[in-house]
Amino acid sequence: MRRFVRLDERLEAVLALLDTDTHADIGSDHAKLPLRLIQTGRARRCIVIELNPGPLALARRNVARAGLADYIEIRAGDGFAPLHPAEADSASITGMGAGTIAVILRRAEVGVLPPTLVLQPNDNPAPIRVWAQQSGYHLTHERLIDGYWPYPVLRLLRHPGPDPAYSGLPHTAALRYGPHLLREAGPLLAARIRADVLRLTPLAAPGRTAQLELDAAQDALQVIGRRV
Ligand SMILES: C[S@@+](CC[C@H](N)C(=O)[O-])C[C@H]1O[C@@H](n2cnc3c(N)ncnc32)[C@H](O)[C@@H]1O
Repeated sequence: MRRFVRLDERLEAVLALLDTDTHADIGSDHAKLPLRLIQTGRARRCIVIELNPGPLALARRNVARAGLADYIEIRAGDGFAPLHPAEADSASITGMGAGTIAVILRRAEVGVLPPTLVLQPNDNPAPIRVWAQQSGYHLTHERLIDGYWPYPVLRLLRHPGPDPAYSGLPHTAALRYGPHLLREAGPLLAARIRADVLRLTPLAAPGRTAQLELDAAQDALQVIGRRV
């Protein structure tokens, strides 16, 4: 019997948020997430999209070794460009900067983006939350995974109208720290907000960006009901 591919905790968290028919993994590299999606029955079919030749070859090798080439198709290309409209039910982009992920989402052709997106940026997801608000996606799930640094994992669902996740929260703080994470008020988020307050306090002054960021961090502390 073939053994399951092992995922690190951040990709396990992404996997747990998917249950789909056709899934596209953009910037897949080793293709471990699509392999596990097929092995666990959480996807019926996967499309791997990779920009660079080295990772593309690695993905092909890993998929062939696992004997899953009939279920995982590998396409060379940039972002969502190799995908046809309405071809995928869900997509993931993981292990990249939030700004890069937001650019990939913004550049997608109309009709190509699937209704479910699971995104795992390596830094502050604010650019992704802004994109989602402007693009008709609601934030349905957020997690922070402990690792080399806290890895955010976000699930977005296409839905019309304002996202109810943000209602009743200070807007800038919610975009920066995450509406669901603020409500959950977990220790990883609390540590991150405290670190921001300590870093920003000596830099803040009226009119400076650091002051706006400090105000957002202090609003966030109030929401989670803690002090520095
Ligand atoms: C740091 S790796 C992350 C690999 C994997 N997704 C993970 O989370 O472990 C980023 C991968 O995305 C690929 N990549 C970067 N920009 C891309 C783009 N615009 N379209 C497709 N692939 C891209 C890179 O070649 C690289 O293999």
